Amino acid sequence: MCGIVAYIGKRSAYPVIVKGLKRLEYRGYDSAGIALLNEDLNIYKKQGKVAQLEEFTIGKDLSGSIGIGHTRWATHGEPCDKNAHPHRSSNGKLAMIHNGIIENYTQLKGELLKKGYEFESDTDTEVLLKFIEDIQKNNQCPLEEAVRIALKRVVGAYVIILLDKDNPDTLIAARKGSPLVIGIGKGEHFLASDASPIIEYTKEVVYVNDYELAIVKADELILKNLGNEKVTPFIQKLDMELAAIEKGGYDHFMLKEINEQPDTIHDCLRGRLDAQHFNIRMAGIDKNIDKLINAQRIMIVACGTSWHAGLVAEYIIEDLCRIPVEVEYASEFRYRNPVIHPGDVIIAISQSGETADTMVAIEKAKEQGAVILGIVNQVGSSIARISDAGAYTHAGPEIGVASTKAFTAQLAVLTMVAMKIAESKGTLNSDKFKHLVQELNAIPEKVPAILAKSNELKALAEKYKDARDFLFLGRGLNFPVALEGALKLKEISYIHAEGYPAAEMKHGPIALVDENLPVVFVATKDAYYEKIVSNIQEIKARKGKVIAIVSEGDDVITKMVDDYFEVPEADETVAPMLSVIPLQLLAYYVGVAKGLDVDKPRNLAKSVTVE
Ligand code: F6R
Repeated sequence: MCGIVAYIGKRSAYPVIVKGLKRLEYRGYDSAGIALLNEDLNIYKKQGKVAQLEEFTIGKDLSGSIGIGHTRWATHGEPCDKNAHPHRSSNGKLAMIHNGIIENYTQLKGELLKKGYEFESDTDTEVLLKFIEDIQKNNQCPLEEAVRIALKRVVGAYVIILLDKDNPDTLIAARKGSPLVIGIGKGEHFLASDASPIIEYTKEVVYVNDYELAIVKADELILKNLGNEKVTPFIQKLDMELAAIEKGGYDHFMLKEINEQPDTIHDCLRGRLDAQHFNIRMAGIDKNIDKLINAQRIMIVACGTSWHAGLVAEYIIEDLCRIPVEVEYASEFRYRNPVIHPGDVIIAISQSGETADTMVAIEKAKEQGAVILGIVNQVGSSIARISDAGAYTHAGPEIGVASTKAFTAQLAVLTMVAMKIAESKGTLNSDKFKHLVQELNAIPEKVPAILAKSNELKALAEKYKDARDFLFLGRGLNFPVALEGALKLKEISYIHAEGYPAAEMKHGPIALVDENLPVVFVATKDAYYEKIVSNIQEIKARKGKVIAIVSEGDDVITKMVDDYFEVPEADETVAPMLSVIPLQLLAYYVGVAKGLDVDKPRNLAKSVTVE
């Protein structure tokens, strides 16, 4: 979703900002723009990719060592040049970029229209900018003061950054609900939606908090709250290398990230799972272990792929810990009136740590006394900071829009959390605990065997790429894996795909089955094996084409189906970390075979910072 970059310092701002916008392309966007301040305030914006903006700016005045840039993911108004950011104030002196949504913009726009303001775009951003301009004009106050007054009236989520022709040495930024990171260089500052545009210049960053205003000069950073009191910036060191956000020889980030999974799962387990001494140490969980073992129930809130990880966790926690678990879409949870008792544990799962629905859901639960555990990938992100405790997934930056390595890392963390609670609670006997420790520890070594056979999935992708629909079926822990397989395929290949519990199929979806429908069964060896064999027969009896993900050495299903892919055997508790990988690869190769932009599928955003 919208990406913002700004620079102030000695360098030429244009190349820094354009490079930064390219680093943020993974977030998903439909137009891009830049404003540069020299003697003039020049604004250039274009629908389409950053490359099109670059083309558009050829031959234009690109001088200036202060500037702001933006990639827009349309919310208010269609994607087009006029709706792209930055926007310009009526007096021509201010330019502003914005990430988020101003919910009361209609009301503010009404007030401004009455005062004679005119609007060039359909955006809420232009409304906020002109609202700030109006306050500045009426109060004859500095821009910083006008921003503060304006934001007290604004309902919604935002990060804004303003350029002011009258103050060419200062950027004003503010945030509520959307992310803003400030990189601190020597005599220069870099502002961005996340650390990826900053990392090659400096590793010292400040994560701006909600309701904070940043007054940024080349050699000075002042943070204030909306009450105009100074706040001491908390400078953190980025634990990230530039290589982590580059493709490293792969055709796509998605393929790179799928292939990174032996390492990312290993990194996630490292220092936590001690297979030699059969021990699990997770600081955030250990500190809260009493609350966890005494919880009357656990609620998991998340969206999309992270929600699928939550469903896997539901099966595992209920099985191992005997604690009831409910898994909720964060977007539903936040708007209904959920019953939350003080002491209830809420687990929020999020790769980006910035998903607006998940963030608001946990804020709401926190107000009602729930304990919030965040399972988050992006270090320093909003959800990580709102949570009472938690565990990072340590999968490294995920740039491909489709979540892959973050999902398996989420499963690894959630499995450890469940095992830790169960061990402390006494619901898991020592032999089973030891067995699971070994099984989990062995996962990173088993993944390469799957990756080594990628060509088989490429061939399957060629064979089935023209299908109109797909059905993904699984039982038990393989049911959420089936859901995840369907989600991956639809977002990357635009083929309609549905995931279902295999037994539920006969209550409706079986009507879809004919010789044209590929049905993917996630059918590894587990307690449901015999049952899923019957489900496969039901599909074959109706001439459906069956592709099965099976355990190595399977000699029953492999004889019944049209195509199969073998994954190494593993205990069913940890098997989803393996069985999902062929589904990720299948989606990837179908997308590639169809010539699609797999890293940036249409309409999707990596970090969904609006509701
Ligand atoms: C799917 C995907 C999305 C995200 C969802 C939640 O591949 O990436 O479904 O999983 O938008 O995002 P996070 O985990 O960042 O909260």
